[in-house]
Amino acid sequence: MKSPMDHWYEKAGVRRDPRRVIARDLEAGKTLFPEALIPYLDHPLVRALGPDERFRIVTRHLYQYLHFTMHFETSVVNRATERIANGSSGLGVRPPMRLDAYKIYCDEAYHALYSLDAIEQVRGATGVDVPAYDFAPFLKQLDGIGAQVMPGEPVLTQLLQVVVFETLVTSILKDIPKDPQVVDTVREIVGDHAEDEGRHHAYFSGFFKELWTDLDPGMRERSARCLPALVSRSLAPDLAPVRTSLRLAGLGEDAVEQVVADAYTAGRVRRHTHDSARHTVRLFASAGVLDVPGADEAFAAAGLV
Ligand SMILES: [Fe+2]
Ligand SMILES: [Fe+2]
Repeated sequence: MKSPMDHWYEKAGVRRDPRRVIARDLEAGKTLFPEALIPYLDHPLVRALGPDERFRIVTRHLYQYLHFTMHFETSVVNRATERIANGSSGLGVRPPMRLDAYKIYCDEAYHALYSLDAIEQVRGATGVDVPAYDFAPFLKQLDGIGAQVMPGEPVLTQLLQVVVFETLVTSILKDIPKDPQVVDTVREIVGDHAEDEGRHHAYFSGFFKELWTDLDPGMRERSARCLPALVSRSLAPDLAPVRTSLRLAGLGEDAVEQVVADAYTAGRVRRHTHDSARHTVRLFASAGVLDVPGADEAFAAAGLV
């Protein structure tokens, strides 16, 4: 049987890619993060801060993205991937698929390593301080959703979390590598990551189909009704680092809340969720999730179909 993780020893970033090194002077006129992907950057209150603060805000947005990636890979993706690999997923996963899971485990650990490496290099090149980043509230919220929508099924919830996240296609991974406005090294780092994630996407699509086949009808119905909430609430933006960055830029509490409310409207968050999750939803549909009674309505109510 062919697997997307075949040729991992030759193709994986951790096996093949060089360490990406950021030049001490950033290429003139280029940005560290695509400005169009920072929803609050062109808010009038942020614009009024001037170009130096704008540069620091963009830099901190890159830090935030990399910090999130670093924690997410090790605390969420690898938590579930290890279960698949070591045989504690509760599913009868075949040995080749378990070996593939350990390959992914190595990939994600490497993504975490170079995310932190990039943060430290950018700090050195720009002199912009790195604010403390606390992933615990996000993880608590993410696991809280699981406990609420799938009580008593923490392992299944972790497996569904990883399927959701590993099959999302975010505009960051898709667009940054091609964006000529972005500093080359940042594009290379994101491009390296996107290549590995393409293989993970295919692996977890196959994994989900096996998982779904394994569930009994009762668990399928429960899962189908919970998946939309798991998808949409998992994709909610992490606003704590945004608030921190705006405060550091000199905005007072009222202004910070104003900017966040204007930049992250319910409609905008819903659109972002819908767009990022469309491959995931297609995967669920092709596995038969939407055929379960009540599922179609639940996905529609969440704005996913
Ligand atoms: Fe990754
Ligand atoms: Fe991945």
